Amino acid sequence: MATILLIGPGAIGSLMAWSLQNHATIKVYAHRAGLSLPGHVESDGETHRLRWSLTDSLVGIDAVLVCCKATQVERATSPLIPKLSGIPWLILCNGLGPQAWLSQQLPGRVLWASTTEGAGRFGQQVRHTGVGETRIGSPEQYIVTDETEQWGRKLASQPGPLELHWEPDITAVLWRKLAINAVINPITAVQQCLNGALAKREWIGEIEVLCAEIQQIARASDIQLPSDLAERVVMVARATGRNRSSMLTDIEAGRETEVDSILGPLLCAADRHGLAAPRLQYWYQAVIRLHPLNR
Ligand code: PAF
Repeated sequence: MATILLIGPGAIGSLMAWSLQNHATIKVYAHRAGLSLPGHVESDGETHRLRWSLTDSLVGIDAVLVCCKATQVERATSPLIPKLSGIPWLILCNGLGPQAWLSQQLPGRVLWASTTEGAGRFGQQVRHTGVGETRIGSPEQYIVTDETEQWGRKLASQPGPLELHWEPDITAVLWRKLAINAVINPITAVQQCLNGALAKREWIGEIEVLCAEIQQIARASDIQLPSDLAERVVMVARATGRNRSSMLTDIEAGRETEVDSILGPLLCAADRHGLAAPRLQYWYQAVIRLHPLNR
């Protein structure tokens, strides 16, 4: 059995471990002090034991799975990169910035993934709150080796509790998720509201303006986003109506948010293409003002 080193045993990391533990030995890298591992995943009324262990040894590792917060990717992976540069890596986190950064550090080795699964961590238990799917693919702008791609295709075809797929256009999938997060997350974080508040009529104008800015940046970056993006944002806000977005949760917990990985890449792309994005800028600044060091 192959051994996968997992970085980031949070809610999504736990779901991935649960899905892969019948096909691989899962070891969790102790990337910070005091890291504890949830013992179980609760899904659909059933409790499933997680079979994983903490390690600080890199001996015998066959692949790396990065599931930590976007804000932690650089800090958590930097010490490992020189030691594990010859094996496949898979990064599953919000935004677009950390994916590009990791691919640049490990040429030919990094696959990207995106998930619509919902999960939350409650002490030693992880609750699977929404069934979705997880797409794994090779980003076209950072070509991977045949060996890396084969590993990713095999992983995506493993039977398990999560639905995994090989995705021919993972960059487009990540952009679609980014576009939705770039609207819902900053507004809910700044307004301190549940996602469902954005489905109210009073927000539609702002959502449309933000989506128009995002569409323009995507087009300039050769990315095709759905033309009904604003409607999709409202649909996601409604479908996840009772959730607190991850950005709101970070603000409430006094943590730094993932705004640099979500709005950051959009604002950088706007800058590169000479596009104005005043509303994205506005929400970016508003979130940054709530970060612990600026309060
Ligand atoms: O980041 C999040 O919280 C989620 O991706 C989303 C879709 C905004 C729902 O809460």
